[in-house]
Amino acid sequence: AEDGYELWLRYRPVGNPGRRTEYTLAFTHVVRQGKSPVLQSAAAELTRGLSGLLDRDIPTADQPSERGAVVLGTPSSSALVRDLLPAGELDEFGPEGFVLRRVRGGGKDIVVVASTGDRGVLYGAFHLLRLLQTEQPVERLDVRDRPTNPLRVLNHWDNINDTVERGYSGGSIFQWSVPGLSPLVGDYARYLASLGINRTVVNNVNANPQFLTAKMLDEVAAVADAMRPWGVTLMLSANFASPIVLDRLPTADPLEPRVKAWWRDKAAEVYGKIPDFGGFLVKANSEGQPGPTEYGRTHADGANVIAEAVAPHGGLVIWRAFVYDLSDGDVSTDAYRTFLPLDGRFADNAVVQAKYGPVDFHVREPVHPLFGAMPRTNMTLELQVTQEHTGHATHLCYLVPWWKSVLAFDTYAKGAGTTVARVVGGSAFGSVHGGLAGVSNFGDDRNWTGHHLAGANAYGYGRLAWDPSLSAEQITDEWIRMTFGSHPQLVKPLTAMLLGSWATFEDYTSPLGVGNLVAGNGDHYNPDPASAQIADGTSVGFDRTVATGTGFTGLYREPWNQIYESLESVPDELLLFMHRVPYAHRLHSGKTVAQHIYDTHFEGLAAAAGEHRTWDGVEPWVGSRRHAEVAERFVAQIAHATLWRDTIVAYFFRLSRLLDERRSWVQV
Ligand code: GCU
Repeated sequence: AEDGYELWLRYRPVGNPGRRTEYTLAFTHVVRQGKSPVLQSAAAELTRGLSGLLDRDIPTADQPSERGAVVLGTPSSSALVRDLLPAGELDEFGPEGFVLRRVRGGGKDIVVVASTGDRGVLYGAFHLLRLLQTEQPVERLDVRDRPTNPLRVLNHWDNINDTVERGYSGGSIFQWSVPGLSPLVGDYARYLASLGINRTVVNNVNANPQFLTAKMLDEVAAVADAMRPWGVTLMLSANFASPIVLDRLPTADPLEPRVKAWWRDKAAEVYGKIPDFGGFLVKANSEGQPGPTEYGRTHADGANVIAEAVAPHGGLVIWRAFVYDLSDGDVSTDAYRTFLPLDGRFADNAVVQAKYGPVDFHVREPVHPLFGAMPRTNMTLELQVTQEHTGHATHLCYLVPWWKSVLAFDTYAKGAGTTVARVVGGSAFGSVHGGLAGVSNFGDDRNWTGHHLAGANAYGYGRLAWDPSLSAEQITDEWIRMTFGSHPQLVKPLTAMLLGSWATFEDYTSPLGVGNLVAGNGDHYNPDPASAQIADGTSVGFDRTVATGTGFTGLYREPWNQIYESLESVPDELLLFMHRVPYAHRLHSGKTVAQHIYDTHFEGLAAAAGEHRTWDGVEPWVGSRRHAEVAERFVAQIAHATLWRDTIVAYFFRLSRLLDERRSWVQV
C-alpha cells in the first residue's frame, strides 16, 4: 500500500483514457543532448515519469528516431535545440527558465525542453511531467516560464545530533550523526528540484559551530555532491562566535583583522571542498545567539565580514532580521528599528531575511513593516512550512492562502502595487538577490512530512517561491492530482477542504489577531491563554497605536498607518494585534468581541469536524493506508480542537462575564 514516500512524484498511469492516448502518441522516447549531471537527471526523470504515466517503457536515445521525441538540452549542448527554436529566444528566460514546445510540421513531431542553463532544462522537464500528472492537453504545448525569485530556499533547522528544532516528522533527513551520506538526500534533492527550489540550508539557524570543522565539512560536502545533480546549492548556518569556539580567537568582533582573516580562511576551506557552496545563513543577537552587537557593531558590520569572505567565491550571506532585544515591551518594533538605519549598508552579496510578520510565525500577524522599508537592501521573505504555531503535524492547516495574502500585501513603498512579492523578487527596487525562504517540514518519517497532507505545504511553498502569482486554487489542484489522482469526486472536496483549513485553525485557536494563546513553556501547541497576558477583566488586545500604544502602527506607510491606527478602519482580523478594546466592542461584522470569540471557536471546531467528514468521503480514491493514517490525525485534531474551544471560550467568559447570546445552554 502507498506509504507516501513518493509525495507528488508518483507517476501512476494517467486515468483518463483519451488523455493517455494523446500522450502516448506525443511522447515516445527521450533524447538527451548533453552530458552534464543535471541534464542526466532531467532525462532520467522524464524517462521514469513518462514510463509510469504512460504505463510503457519509454526509451532514451541520442537522436530522435520516430515521431514523439522529447528533446532536452541547451543551445550549447545541442544542435537540435539550436535548430528547433528561434535563435536567441531562450535568452529572455535565463538559465533557470525554459521553453517547452511541441514543434510539428515537415514530418516532424518533437517536444523540445530547452534553456540556456542546465537547471532550466531540469525545471522544464518537471513542468512537462506536471502537465501530464494533472492531465492537461498537449496538443499545442507551448510554455515559456522563468522563476520570479532568484533565491528559492528551503531552510532546515536540523541539529548535529539529528533532532530537528520545531520538526514534527521525525529526525534529520541528513543523519549527521551517522558517518556517510544519508540515503534520503538524493530523493530529497529530487523533490526540491521538482519545485524549482535551488538552495537549501542544511543545519539549524541556532547553529552549532561544529558544522564548520574539517570533519563535518567533509560530511556536508558529500551532501552537496548528492544535491548537485538536482541543481540544488547547499548553504550552511554559521554561528557568529565560530572564530572563538573553533579556533580560540579572543573575539568575534567583525572589524578585527584577525576575525576577518578567520572568515576568509574558513570560506576558502569550505569552497575547497564545495566549489559551488552557496554561502552562510546567520542568526545573530537573537534568542541567545552571539552576534556583532556584543562588540558595539551593527548587524551590517556582522553580515559584511562574512559577505566579504565569501564574495571572491560567488557566495552570499543571508542575515536574519529576527531580533527582539530592544525590550521596550513591544517586540514587534525591534527588527524594524534595528535594521531600518542599516539600509544601504549591507554588502551587495548580503541579503536580509525577515519573517512574514513582526512577531514570530503566528497564525495571523500583520505583514512585517520592514518589507518595502529597505529599498537598498536585498531581502528574502521567510515563511514557516513546518507547523510550529499552526498545529504541528497533527492539525490540518494548509498555509498557501495565508502566504498568498502576505505576498500580495501592498507596502506602497513605491506607490500602489509595491507588493511584498515585488519587493523580495527584485522588481520593486531592482535588488539582485532576493526571494523566499521556507523553514522545512521534511524529516526522516517515511512520508517525509509526518502528516500526509502537510506535503501540500511543502509543495505550495515551492510553487510560490517559483511564481508568487500562481493562485492558491491552482497550486492546490495540482498537488491533489499529483498526490492522489484526478478523480473529480476527490479533487473538488479536497481542494475546498485544504483551502479552508488555515481559517479553520485560526478560528478555533487565535481570534482577531490576538496572537498565540499557547503555553508559555514553548510547546507552541497547547492552549494556555493566561500565559499570553493579553486580557483582563475589562479588555483584551495589545495597544500598538501611535496615539496611546507602542507606536507600531506608525511604522507603516500611508494608508496602512491610518488604517491600522483607527478603530474605525482596522480590519477585524487584526483588531487585537493593534488595539486594546472592551469585550463589548463591536466589530465591523456587527458582533461584539466576546461574541466573535465564542462563535469562531464553535464554528472552527465544527469546520474541523467537517474536514474530517470530507476526508472520510474521499476514501475510495485515496487508498486505504494513506487514508487511515490521515484519519487518525483528524481524530487527534478534533480532540485537540475541542480542548482549544473549551479553554478559550471558558477563559474569555470568565474574564468578560458576557453571556454567549447564541448558546443559551452555556451556564453562568
Ligand atoms: C522561533 C522558534 C525557535 C527558532 C526561532 C527562529 O522562536 O520557536 O525555535 O529558533 O523562531 O526563527 O530563530
